[in-house]
Amino acid sequence: MWIANNWKDYEVLDCSNGEKLERWGDYILVRPDPQVIWDTPKILKGWKKMNGHYHRSSRGGGEWEFFNLPEQWTINYKSLTFNLKPFSFKHTGLFPEQATNWDWFSDLISKEKAKRGNDNPVKVLNLFAYTGGATLAAAAAGANVTHVDASKGMVNWAKENAVSSSLKDAPIRWLVDDCVKFVEREIRRGNKYDAIIMDPPSYGRGPKGEIWKIEDSIHSFVKLCTQILSDKPLFFLINSYTTGLAPSVLTYMIEIEVSKKFDGHVEAQEIGLPVSSNGLVLPCGASGRWSR
Ligand SMILES: C[S@@+](CC[C@H](N)C(=O)[O-])C[C@H]1O[C@@H](n2cnc3c(N)ncnc32)[C@H](O)[C@@H]1O
Repeated sequence: MWIANNWKDYEVLDCSNGEKLERWGDYILVRPDPQVIWDTPKILKGWKKMNGHYHRSSRGGGEWEFFNLPEQWTINYKSLTFNLKPFSFKHTGLFPEQATNWDWFSDLISKEKAKRGNDNPVKVLNLFAYTGGATLAAAAAGANVTHVDASKGMVNWAKENAVSSSLKDAPIRWLVDDCVKFVEREIRRGNKYDAIIMDPPSYGRGPKGEIWKIEDSIHSFVKLCTQILSDKPLFFLINSYTTGLAPSVLTYMIEIEVSKKFDGHVEAQEIGLPVSSNGLVLPCGASGRWSR
């Protein structure tokens, strides 16, 4: 398992009975997590004295209850700063487990950049890019990044994160678009990328209502994406929060679409967050990584 264990401002303190107890900077949140099917005793005081608690509703969805939580605050990961603000659904605007992927590709980008120099930048495409965690990590490592998400609100939030991370003037192209339509257009335009990152939702919609359903759409989309990779791409990363996509499925898909064309190395693993009260690791989906 790949574990995001370099956080200082974030930690999973404990998890029990369908919920996780987390520290986001100075604030404690309790949020639902369907993976947490055990019911260990809730001893830590945060379980009784939290700043925000997302209560699931039996009708689906749920609602937040807040206790002295600001409307917005920030946390840092290495040189990056993220604005957290409650909250559509149970989300805070950041998936902290992704930090393990940020570390992996940042290293690849900075080594490649050292080889290439400044005249031939590493071009990264971040699809379903949400609030820009991966975009900013790639930009901080020295890449030119194209950031694509269907939601204007999310793209604006990602831009705010860029400003907070002192990356306002970094070479990032911000696009509100449907990912499939965008890649199809890039194929027609002949544009190429050295690396692709994608973190698709199980179900989503493009700006014009285009439907994305991961099981139906992912394989043909990966195939499409291989057409906009440069001749010697650097990496290809797929993350899936959907438990239905096992690491072996990611390996298989990337093998047959990316390795077939470019050789290289594929590995897929579950990703997870360490739980500080007990030393266990909370699983948070899976990632598949291809590198040259
Ligand atoms: C759950 S987030 C992905 C997580 C994020 N990459 C991260 O780890 O921080 C999914 C994102 O995909 C976007 N999205 C959904 N369907 C889309 C589509 N068809 N085209 C572009 N973006 C889409 C949503 O607006 C949302 O921001």
